[in-house]
Amino acid sequence: MKPIFKAHDLSFEEMIDEATIHARVQEMGTQLQELYFDKNPLFIGVLNGAFLFAADLIRAFESPCEIDFVRMSSYKGLRSTGQVTITLESKIEIKGRHLIIVEDIVDTGNTLYAFCQDIEKQEPASVAIATLLIKPEAVQHNLKVDFVGFEIPPKFVIGCGLDYNEQGRHLRGIYQLITSIF
Ligand code: IMP
Repeated sequence: MKPIFKAHDLSFEEMIDEATIHARVQEMGTQLQELYFDKNPLFIGVLNGAFLFAADLIRAFESPCEIDFVRMSSYKGLRSTGQVTITLESKIEIKGRHLIIVEDIVDTGNTLYAFCQDIEKQEPASVAIATLLIKPEAVQHNLKVDFVGFEIPPKFVIGCGLDYNEQGRHLRGIYQLITSIF
């Protein structure tokens, strides 16, 4: 039986286990290492959800790099509100830097689309997106996502930094919402 986690009023069951996630994040780190080892890239993690993935990813990247975080939000409970708010901006100079934006999940793509448009104005040398998860069926923008951990169906998930009303971020696996048939 798959592990179950209860958060608030809802139940979630494991979709991707810790070992599988760990192995994939190591692979992504190695791939980034091959491309960016001499570029001192600036990783920009999107808070709160990407804090764990960003930490694991830069530890799998074994060359000089820097990290900063921004905070954006578009989700309330189980749904995207469609409006993206950037509440914490990176203080590091971005002009001329090789950026790797680190997201926990790309769902509609609203958050990253808005952020990338904003960041391009600051003339970085390059911009790449690395996400742990993507829901390809939900993406609504022509967004180039360069590094993807796992493609998942359009289900609501928690774990590895992702939450349901702040619960479940600590889970080492990815857990999907169990939808009742009644
Ligand atoms: P997007 O702007 O619709 O792509 O959504 C991006 C943000 O919404 C992510 O960074 C998450 O914080 C949140 N989000 C999207 N899907 C989920 C989910 O299945 N579980 C938890 N949070 C999610």
